[in-house]
Amino acid sequence: MTAFFVTGTDTGVGKTRVSAALLHALHRHHARVIGMKPVAAGTELINGEWANEDVLALRAASTVQVPALYDNPYLLNLAASPHIAAREEGVEIDIEHIAACFHALRQQADAVVVEGAGGFIVPLLESGRQSATSADLAVLLRLPVVLVVGVRLGCLNHALLTQEAILSRGLTLAGWVANRIDPSMVAPDANVDTLRLRLQAPMLADWPWQPLQPASALSLDVPVP
Ligand SMILES: Nc1ncnc2c1ncn2[C@@H]1O[C@H](COP(=O)(O)OP(=O)(O)OP(=O)(O)O)[C@@H](O)[C@H]1O
Ligand SMILES: [Mg+2]
Repeated sequence: MTAFFVTGTDTGVGKTRVSAALLHALHRHHARVIGMKPVAAGTELINGEWANEDVLALRAASTVQVPALYDNPYLLNLAASPHIAAREEGVEIDIEHIAACFHALRQQADAVVVEGAGGFIVPLLESGRQSATSADLAVLLRLPVVLVVGVRLGCLNHALLTQEAILSRGLTLAGWVANRIDPSMVAPDANVDTLRLRLQAPMLADWPWQPLQPASALSLDVPVP
């Protein structure tokens, strides 16, 4: 069983795109691939139902369909940090429950891709003496991490801090993707070269600005766990 945890330098940098493309790439080697979005914050009315875009995109890239309670145990309506949306909605996020759902998915899959919420140490829950971040979840699941770098001004600092946060927790950085999300960025190539030198993992893809490209048409190397 292969599994990865996909994180990013920020929210909105391409984690879902990378997760979906990774599922497509893994499907070339494995029959049963499942995407998981443990905590999704932000719903919209899609075909008459309140749904989250990321969850739907990962399901579309999966080859096994599972009950929603497993691939998306927490669906929050507010598009806010999970711990804030959960508090507003009276939901108690339990990362042990997420781990149980993940282990149930593993039984039915050859490969699982877990998309984190926001950036790496975004809080998932904060209640009384209990707190947990997205990084705590990656540690609990013991997954190799794929880092999506949204290539824009500020990304060097975000990427290098995220690498430190991953490695300092004893996790493996399995690979990273340069995702050029800002077509007007100054010196994008020099930024990507800087990251090639400083990130201690293979670059799995270098994607140009391409707003209309479907995930199935995006290629990336499958990381070695
Ligand atoms: N290379 C790219 N070129 C153009 N648009 C892109 C590119 N990568 C991502 N996008 C667009 O940027 C937006 C954010 O991408 P995506 O949803 O994958 O980010 P995310 O990190 O998963 O966000 P979230 O934190 O909300 O989960 C989407 O509209 C996506 O289509
Ligand atoms: Mg996403």
